[in-house]
Amino acid sequence: MTMKKEYHIIKIAEPFAPLLTEHKRIKFYYGGRAGGKSYAFADSLLIKGRQQKLLIACLREIQESIKDSVYRLLCDRIALYELNDYQIYENKIENKITGSKFIFKGLRDQDVQHIKSLEGVDIAWIEEAQTISKRSWEILEPTIRKNGSEIWISMNREQENDPLWIALAAHPDERTLVKKVNYDDNPFCPEEIKIQAQKCRQRSSEDYAHIWLGEPVRQGNNKLIASDVVRRAFVSTILSSSSPLIIGLDVARFGDDQTVFCFRRGRWCYAFRCYQKLDNVAVANVATNFIKEYHPHRIFMDIGGQGAGVYDILKDRGFSEIIRGIYFGEKAINEERYFNRRAEMWDSVQAWLSSSPQVQLPEDESLFDELTGINKKYDRRGRLQLEEKDEVKKRLGRSPDKADALALTFAEPVYDDGEPQIYHHGQLTYEDIFKSQRERSNELW
Ligand SMILES: Nc1ncnc2c1ncn2[C@@H]1O[C@H](COP(=O)(O)OP(=O)(O)O)[C@@H](O)[C@H]1O
Ligand SMILES: [Mg+2]
Repeated sequence: MTMKKEYHIIKIAEPFAPLLTEHKRIKFYYGGRAGGKSYAFADSLLIKGRQQKLLIACLREIQESIKDSVYRLLCDRIALYELNDYQIYENKIENKITGSKFIFKGLRDQDVQHIKSLEGVDIAWIEEAQTISKRSWEILEPTIRKNGSEIWISMNREQENDPLWIALAAHPDERTLVKKVNYDDNPFCPEEIKIQAQKCRQRSSEDYAHIWLGEPVRQGNNKLIASDVVRRAFVSTILSSSSPLIIGLDVARFGDDQTVFCFRRGRWCYAFRCYQKLDNVAVANVATNFIKEYHPHRIFMDIGGQGAGVYDILKDRGFSEIIRGIYFGEKAINEERYFNRRAEMWDSVQAWLSSSPQVQLPEDESLFDELTGINKKYDRRGRLQLEEKDEVKKRLGRSPDKADALALTFAEPVYDDGEPQIYHHGQLTYEDIFKSQRERSNELW
């Protein structure tokens, strides 16, 4: 008898052997990016599904379309290994010989009826398990009730208290296998990924520990801006600056938000002017007065919301040399590192506050709360992201208008070369801008 060809080809990395060789109620794999979890789970399930008839549920917290699921990965593996006994349908995969079936579901927003369809499941694979809510888990666990059924979990820990971590892995019982796998445990880890990991390590040991070593973001340590650097900036040491004046303008979106102008010259941020309940023309009038009186080199404003109307008026008044419109949500100048423009600008505030010589802010407790009240996280590409505005608002009781205005002053570097120079982004590369920014950092900051 000849050995089946595919068993020569499908290789399961050693840490994942228990997926195939042991029976456990819970198999809990966690770790950083590129540990090989998704691939090993997919390959192992495909192997098991050829050995006997199994109902396999591939689950995640949110699945808006099947594209969000591991369906694609399974299809790719089937194609790669030429597992022709698998038949691929639009929303399920079946094995023609054993009758095994893979189904794909999101847990949030499932009604009881849908969850019931999981009662015959032999193996449930929960992918991206750090996002599973307590409620989803409480509904799911008793539903996977078939004799001998297993729940396979893959996660990259987010917080110390991810619900599934607390429920299963923090104090595992004898029915639970808990295993950590990182990229350096993955024999198939591509070189390019290892390089990325090393780059990240050089940049920040904290980010590296989270993204690549699978450590949770330590509680209280997921703040973007530390309290002490803000306190330090409240100590008055600078009285003037010859750096160009940059104004950040955050226009109120809703009735209770404020319209804020932030004034910054290099290392010296010396004033915030706040207004409530102004219409677009009134905001444009205030801006016009500031332009005439203080001659800013640049005004950066958010044009994602109300700001767009103000921006149009100021352009119409002939200030297009000075005014720049920024969408907080637009892609960052450095897309590799930042989820969007807002995260990039806030990180510049953070770098500015941590730089030396010392920078300065007006002493202001509400500004302190705003700057230190925002949490950071990372998207699946490991890029810095800020927590959603709604969450900040819940905690702060308002939106961080002053801090956003300060962040806007960092939208693009501005140089004092006599007459204003215009740097549209796209015209210069990120490296161009930031190389010269570093060289001239004294002048800028
Ligand atoms: N069995 C395998 N064969 C070939 N390459 C693999 C295998 N397992 C992992 N890899 C490689 O390692 C990378 C990371 O694996 P992945 O399963 O996505 O990790 P994780 O889910 O832990 O983030 C994949 O993109 C792939 O390039
Ligand atoms: Mg994965």
